[in-house]
Amino acid sequence: MPSYSLTQFSSDVVKPENAAGVVSICRKLQMDVALANWSAGIEAKLQKGEAYWDLACALRQIATGLQPRNYLEIGVRLGSSTAMVAATVPQVNIVAFDLWISPYAGLDNPGPDFVRSQLKGVGHQNEVTFVDGDSKVTVPLYLATHPDVRFDVVTVDGDHTDEGAWADLTSVAEVVVAGGYLLIDDLVLPCHTLLRVWRRFQEEYGDRFEFLENLTDHYGTGVARRKE
Ligand SMILES: C[S@@+](CC[C@H](N)C(=O)[O-])C[C@H]1O[C@@H](n2cnc3c(N)ncnc32)[C@H](O)[C@@H]1O
Repeated sequence: MPSYSLTQFSSDVVKPENAAGVVSICRKLQMDVALANWSAGIEAKLQKGEAYWDLACALRQIATGLQPRNYLEIGVRLGSSTAMVAATVPQVNIVAFDLWISPYAGLDNPGPDFVRSQLKGVGHQNEVTFVDGDSKVTVPLYLATHPDVRFDVVTVDGDHTDEGAWADLTSVAEVVVAGGYLLIDDLVLPCHTLLRVWRRFQEEYGDRFEFLENLTDHYGTGVARRKE
């Protein structure tokens, strides 16, 4: 795996070609109204020449720079974030956790078969393992039964309660490889307080990770790179 510094990431993630790459992956996905509006918003930013990055942009850029072999995602829904990694590195192995709450925030949440077809549609060619259920239970169980598994990139975007997000972050922190990335979404989404969880994570894990965040675009994204 190539080394990909946080400094390099922060300069690459805002480049228009990254946002354009995200939009082009979105065009291959089946989207609902929420995803279509979000993708149209990125296109509008591109047309105005405004810099923009969110979870999808971060994932596409990290996948480009890091060429991950193993990706873990908590919170998948229609697979748009998963697709950013899968389309960029078709050989990546994916382990995806979701409780498939449906409807989710009033939106459809069809489940693993739908996501499998999304990932095929963007050209993914390797394994996808879906682990269904509450991540507070399923992630620790999965990691305990796969003690040697490590991940180059991990996204935490499932349970948005403080307790759930903290459990997810702390469950996965130790399985991120040196030089690998851990991302969290929706830091400033109204009705949730994930920024507070992120701040606590930064405080308690600052010896092992370096951090970057964008609280301006979409609902806020946090990025942590495991120190080498
Ligand atoms: C915000 S959506 C994920 C969006 C996706 N990452 C993307 O960017 O396209 C959150 C997902 O987390 C799932 N979820 C919520 N609570 C969960 C829990 N306790 N365990 C596992 N998944 C959960 C929901 O079912 C939903 O599919």
